[in-house]
Amino acid sequence: MSHVDQTTESNSEHTPAETAESQVEVVTDHNHKLYIETVGCQMNMLDSELVVADLRKRGYELTQNVKEAETILFNTCSVREHAEHKIYSSLGRLRYGARKNPKKVIGVMGCMAQKDQKLIFQKAPQVDFVVGTGQLAQVSSLIDKARVNHSQNVRSRELAVGLGRKDGKLAEITNSFQSYDPLRDPEMRPSPYQAFVRIMIGCDKFCSYCVVPSTRGPEQSRSPREILSEVNVLADQGVKEVTLLGQTVNSYKHTQDGKLYRLSDLLYQIHDVEGINRIKFVTSYPKDMTTDLLEAIRDLPKATRYLHVPLQHGCNDVLKVMKRGYTVEDYREMMQRVNEILPGCSVSSDFIVGHPGETEESHQLSLESIREFRFKNSFIFKYSERPGTKAAERFKDEIPDEVKKRRNNEMLAVQNQISEEDNAEFIGKQVEVLVEGPSKSAQKAIEESLAEQLVGRSNCDRIVVFDGNPRLAGSLTRVEIFDVTPTTLIGGIVTKEFQHNPGSSLPILQ
Ligand code: SAH
Ligand code: SF4
Ligand code: F3S
Repeated sequence: MSHVDQTTESNSEHTPAETAESQVEVVTDHNHKLYIETVGCQMNMLDSELVVADLRKRGYELTQNVKEAETILFNTCSVREHAEHKIYSSLGRLRYGARKNPKKVIGVMGCMAQKDQKLIFQKAPQVDFVVGTGQLAQVSSLIDKARVNHSQNVRSRELAVGLGRKDGKLAEITNSFQSYDPLRDPEMRPSPYQAFVRIMIGCDKFCSYCVVPSTRGPEQSRSPREILSEVNVLADQGVKEVTLLGQTVNSYKHTQDGKLYRLSDLLYQIHDVEGINRIKFVTSYPKDMTTDLLEAIRDLPKATRYLHVPLQHGCNDVLKVMKRGYTVEDYREMMQRVNEILPGCSVSSDFIVGHPGETEESHQLSLESIREFRFKNSFIFKYSERPGTKAAERFKDEIPDEVKKRRNNEMLAVQNQISEEDNAEFIGKQVEVLVEGPSKSAQKAIEESLAEQLVGRSNCDRIVVFDGNPRLAGSLTRVEIFDVTPTTLIGGIVTKEFQHNPGSSLPILQ
């Protein structure tokens, strides 16, 4: 069967509502099985949830089996080259199937779609449409369009991406999120009791290595009114824990009815929502960790004592090349306030190894910073040159991969040691766990009714595993810790009798 190439672009005038199926003849002769693969950060996980919610309303059902799906979506990430390679190899595997079954529609969405646009069609000609980070509301009509085209033997090439920053129309890249976020899909969440809530989009920090400001557009905060109504809907659906999302979530600012709301104000408001027991937020930017925010966490029992505040590097010279906008001394000052106002609060970080400008001495300073700040855990990444970023323009990616690998391993070893030491402090103590359900390793055993190992997180975001009844999922349960690994606390449920025993002198940690 021959296909005619046809590229149409729908990247400007239409609002998402106008591009609905009214303009497209809907072809119903397909199996409505949807396969979606998501890589990247929590923003992408949330975006996938919204797209699936929209498609479910239109009769689609999810499948894990890409072979049986006639609608296939990839939600992509551009933050490192590796994430892009992964998507191209997944797409490559579909080439033959797509040629054989003309009912198959393949779409690429997310950050890579926003960044590479038509290049994706060149590299993966089996792709029917590419849709940017701000145009997700158009996904269903793009699927319909592709199907109509296929039925007429036309291989469609639809590109729906907002204009980027360079085009001068800053809001364009993000125009659909206000109306799109309230769509939710419980099955796409980390667990039925946990949900992400986007409170802002985009980023204006422009760290020199990072592609996100161009894939996600300018920083914009949502109104507290919209956020609260979304949290209320989630609470009604049984969600117990919300994680507020933003690339620099603590930079949140929105003026509503003449009043300026910061993240601390938002925490107070969300705290009043009945049914929500825990509130988290990621990712924080060190310079915006204001005292009012730390005090709000101190004063609000539902706010978790956990902060993800990436330091990225322990050497001021590298931080300067990265254009992070702070020094190690600034970070230390922030940590002092965190420890003073929120004793026992755990802090996690991201690090980049092998960034241009990193010497052996500066790498040692990164190791030292893990020892000094005792992060709960760190996500460590090898520098990946991203075309279009300031770092790619100005510096050569000169550090050999073996050196990056070795430095990465050294960082991991130091972090593991610190994590294990700090986890060991929990032995003999109790933590309150929001139970997520059966732990992954126990899933199979449970199916065979052999054991019932549950997993959840403590208030300070540590993973806790313990034996218990799966009906505890969604509840807050007290667990006493008897063993640890660098990543996990292992414990047993504290029984009611034990809790009320006046003789018990076990300290209760957060
Ligand atoms: N907004 C968040 C992080 C977003 S990207 C923040 O500022 O902290 C997630 C992580 O990917 C970053 O924290 C950084 O450590 C890493 N990262 C971003 N660009 C990278 C690159 N070009 N190479 C390697 N790691 C990168
Ligand atoms: Fe990227 Fe920096 Fe923005 Fe984080 S703060 S998303 S690292 S530019
Ligand atoms: Fe990746 Fe985009 Fe998130 S580049 S890390 S999916 S914002």
